Amino acid sequence: MRIDILTLFPDMFTGFLQGSLLGAAREKGLVDIRLVDIRDFAEGPHRQVDDRPFGGGPGMLLMPGPVVASIEHVQGQATDPGQVILFTPGGRRLDQPLVEELARRERLVLVCGRYEGFDARVAQTVGAEEISIGDYVLSGGEVAAMVVVDAVARLLPGVLGHEESARQDSFSGHERLVEGPQYTRPREFRGLHVPEVLLSGDHRRIEAWRHEQAVAATSRRATATPTPGMSRRSDP
Ligand code: 6GU
Repeated sequence: MRIDILTLFPDMFTGFLQGSLLGAAREKGLVDIRLVDIRDFAEGPHRQVDDRPFGGGPGMLLMPGPVVASIEHVQGQATDPGQVILFTPGGRRLDQPLVEELARRERLVLVCGRYEGFDARVAQTVGAEEISIGDYVLSGGEVAAMVVVDAVARLLPGVLGHEESARQDSFSGHERLVEGPQYTRPREFRGLHVPEVLLSGDHRRIEAWRHEQAVAATSRRATATPTPGMSRRSDP
């Protein structure tokens, strides 16, 4: 898979892309990730990328010119134009089914917004999908792009090494359950004991117990009170 990341802050990604999982995946050629500085496509002596919104209002918007030019630049490097994604708090909410959808693409073009967001004509011009990673406001799309790259990369064949764990992890099973509690050594920690069933060696009982715990953890989560006042565009 090829992933182009378009941002005003490419330095934010350097440590992240060298991390153990992604660094190894890139070295093995399983994923080709390229960084592009949107400012390189700005014009004029000040290389301006943002401006005040027409009609007034707080903050600055990314101008459409440099953003669209940077997208078209990377699209010109290969025949597949890729799925263009704009990170914006009002976009479709990221969840594991959407991650799985993105992981099936050959190519992703991830565009990180800063300031108050993008001029609306960017999405219209390039046919982008807008994605949000949750109901809170970040100061830019860079962290959201890292979330998507991490979640997508670990689903690519060969990246995890241990294919079973990608499938079994929370949300990825066909039942969409979150995982219940897990334990490693020692058997007792500060007076807290590992549940006896996990030490029994009885794999049927262990499987049944884990499923029961996962159902309980999932229903506790589902009944948690949502934060009031957050708008969700993905809701009907
Ligand atoms: Cl993608 N961008 C910003 N600025 N804030 C967010 C977000 C994205 N997702 C959740 N909050």
